[in-house]
Amino acid sequence: MSVATSTAVDETARGGTIAVRVRGLSKGFGSGEQRVVALDKVDLDVYAGRMSLIVGPSGCGKTTLLSVIAGILNADEGEVAVFGETITRMGDRAKTRFRARRIGFVFQQYNLLPALTAAENASIPLVIAGWRKGPAVARAAEVLTSIGMGKKVDSLPSQLSGGQMQRVAIARALVHDPQLLVCDEPTAALDHETGLTVMELLREAAVRPDRAVVVVTHDNRVFHFGDRIAHMDDGRVVKIEDRDPSLSAA
Ligand SMILES: Nc1ncnc2c1ncn2[C@@H]1O[C@H](COP(=O)(O)OP(=O)(O)OP(=O)(O)O)[C@@H](O)[C@H]1O
Ligand SMILES: [Mg+2]
Repeated sequence: MSVATSTAVDETARGGTIAVRVRGLSKGFGSGEQRVVALDKVDLDVYAGRMSLIVGPSGCGKTTLLSVIAGILNADEGEVAVFGETITRMGDRAKTRFRARRIGFVFQQYNLLPALTAAENASIPLVIAGWRKGPAVARAAEVLTSIGMGKKVDSLPSQLSGGQMQRVAIARALVHDPQLLVCDEPTAALDHETGLTVMELLREAAVRPDRAVVVVTHDNRVFHFGDRIAHMDDGRVVKIEDRDPSLSAA
């Protein structure tokens, strides 16, 4: 396996479109003695058609970085461009609209609405985008079917296993065909085997020229799914590891 490591962002390390470009990103929480620097001048490139992982010890800033990339959290300094659009310069309304159209989210806790069926849960981004409920649920059922959940479209979350609930969450994240999928510890609540299945699904979603997937994970058993692995420590990206995608897909 060819593994190239470097301490700096290397734009020539890989071909292809840069899906997410992070430059000089800093973010602190609190003030005075309570101040925590969660991100300290982070640079990172994420490529389209690839799965990128952000890894590192608890508290190193992974979720903060993912949240700024996804436009959920504002940075103090620096820039993030997602498929060429600089979200750090957008106003809140523009950013909300951008997020709704272009970004899909998967979290550790699936955040499904208990009174809605799997297909209804997965249809939510379409309903928010203005689709009528019928077509939205039908489209969500198609996406669920494509990820092996065809028999569960009418099930409530309480009738599903953890892995199945995470698949509903993945269908919800993919239903509006976002360009960027961001996932925060998507396998943390799952057993190892189910976690591998979920990573495979996310990887399949990533392997498209016009899409990118970024996964934050603690779980070193899934590191091999990453085409690019950004190692963080103490608010910084300290190492970038690139792997040959054809090898890591095997
Ligand atoms: N809303 C907040 N208010 C204050 N401090 C925060 C807030 N969010 C994060 N922090 C702090 O910022 C630092 C980075 O947090 P972050 O959640 O990004 O870490 P992480 O790498 O995702 O950790 P974990 O692996 O435990 O999820 C931590 O020191 C954390 O305590
Ligand atoms: Mg976190």
